[in-house]
Amino acid sequence: MRTVQIILVGGLVVLLSWAAMAASTGPAAQLERFETEAARRGQAEAGRQFFLTKHGNEWACASCHGEWPTRSGRHATTGKTLEPLAPAFNPKSLTDTARVDKWLRRNCKDVLSRECSAGEKADVLAWLISLR
Ligand code: HEC
Repeated sequence: MRTVQIILVGGLVVLLSWAAMAASTGPAAQLERFETEAARRGQAEAGRQFFLTKHGNEWACASCHGEWPTRSGRHATTGKTLEPLAPAFNPKSLTDTARVDKWLRRNCKDVLSRECSAGEKADVLAWLISLR
């Protein structure tokens, strides 16, 4: 009986810490990270325009990810299929802090020749998360 209790409690602890981990790196946490850094809320409409527009270079974000990031995108040069960016359509999207930072750094340099500001990132993430 005691063993069963220990197993049950142990399982619960594992489950809870797993849930806490998932919650701390999920799309909402990524958005919150950039909102805190920018000291303002992300604005979905501004994010949509930012994503669809070119910023002086050949590509917009949409050139690879598509105008509707609820669907798969196609890389502008390699033709590789990209999973949808909108988390509601791709449960893996925006869940890994290192991955989000790495790709934003690289993608923003391609599109803007600089890193995106925290406010720009918050806007784009607010839009991506709002897509259902
Ligand atoms: C030249 C093509 C290209 C452009 C332009 C581009 N991206 Fe990406 N992006 C990628 C690729 C490739 C990945 C990695 C996806 C994969 O491995 O499936 C990626 C990944 C990402 C991710 C990480 C998603 C995750 O898995 O959590 C984000 C966020 C992102 N891009 C946002 C943007 C934004 C914002 C812009 C515009 C500033 C942009 N991208 C422009 C190719 C591009």
